[in-house]
Amino acid sequence: MSETVRRVELENRVAIVTGAGRGLGREHALLLARYGARVVVNDLGTGLDGAGNDDNAASQVVAEILANGGEAVVDFNSVTTPEGGQAIVDTAINAFDQVDIVVNNAGILLDKTFHHMTDEFVEPVLDVHLRGAFNVTRPAWEIFRRQGFGRVINTSSAAGVLGNFGQTNYAAAKAGLVGFTNVLALEGAKFNITANAIAPVARTRMTEDILGKLADSVNPELVSPLVVWLASEDCTDTGHIFTVGGGRVARFFTAMTDGWTRTDGVLTPEDVRAHWAEINDESKYSVPSGIADDFRALRRALRGSE
Ligand code: NAI
Repeated sequence: MSETVRRVELENRVAIVTGAGRGLGREHALLLARYGARVVVNDLGTGLDGAGNDDNAASQVVAEILANGGEAVVDFNSVTTPEGGQAIVDTAINAFDQVDIVVNNAGILLDKTFHHMTDEFVEPVLDVHLRGAFNVTRPAWEIFRRQGFGRVINTSSAAGVLGNFGQTNYAAAKAGLVGFTNVLALEGAKFNITANAIAPVARTRMTEDILGKLADSVNPELVSPLVVWLASEDCTDTGHIFTVGGGRVARFFTAMTDGWTRTDGVLTPEDVRAHWAEINDESKYSVPSGIADDFRALRRALRGSE
């Protein structure tokens, strides 16, 4: 017997997707529109290093959405300044009178090993990925709070969660987005605003040289279904990081070993050395869902050997 699959619902929602002219952002915009959202297709059209601009990419995505019977408007502002972020949100309000979903996706790469990593490689990467997310989300947040609904999807990366050679700037920005997401999740909870992060794996100009054999399996289309689900009203989970690519969706979480505790108010470096194996023992761990769980584990450890 065939089961009817209830469709994920985005009808009447308005979504902003930054960096939506190509790669992952383009796929997010197309799929959000296919699920009924009206979409602001933002893209400055830069090179991979952030230089230059080209209106064609974003305009073509809008044309494609309109040709498919969807609704979309183009926006060429840069996410790198508060004024740019405000202008992007204004584009949504002017066109659709509303904004419900922000997908922070715009990105550039300026890889260097750390001993060559000067400010000219650090600042632009922080500006696009991390400050860009602040700049676009902040004006949308006021609207989300007023209307009692909002969905924020931040694009982190395995490089931020796990590290990747030659990417201190990029990994710091992407890990920064994890902290940003965690706090938005807390502050948004009572307003029905969720915030989650994705760490995608997809074949785009950003990754085509590094994916090796995986390249054939990781079509960028295979990331966007998670974005659509996280953007929907039905998905109320918040403060999570998902790895997504090639058809797999999984969740990263932070675990904490039980560790070792000395309870008499003294701790020496020699204690730490002597108990290093217990401190690092991954066979006993918990998964704190917030700071309160960390404090609770500490109180329990201190009580444990009273
Ligand atoms: P892409 O280079 O194809 O797309 C990025 C888009 O962002 C470009 O169209 C670019 O013009 C736009 N952009 C750059 N600076 C901008 C600015 N200041 N304002 C507005 N738009 C701007 O790269 P891809 O792979 O689609 O990357 C999308 C996001 O996914 C990025 O944040 C990237 O770091 C992240 N990511 C991608 C992975 C992958 O496997 N492709 C892996 C992990 C993270």
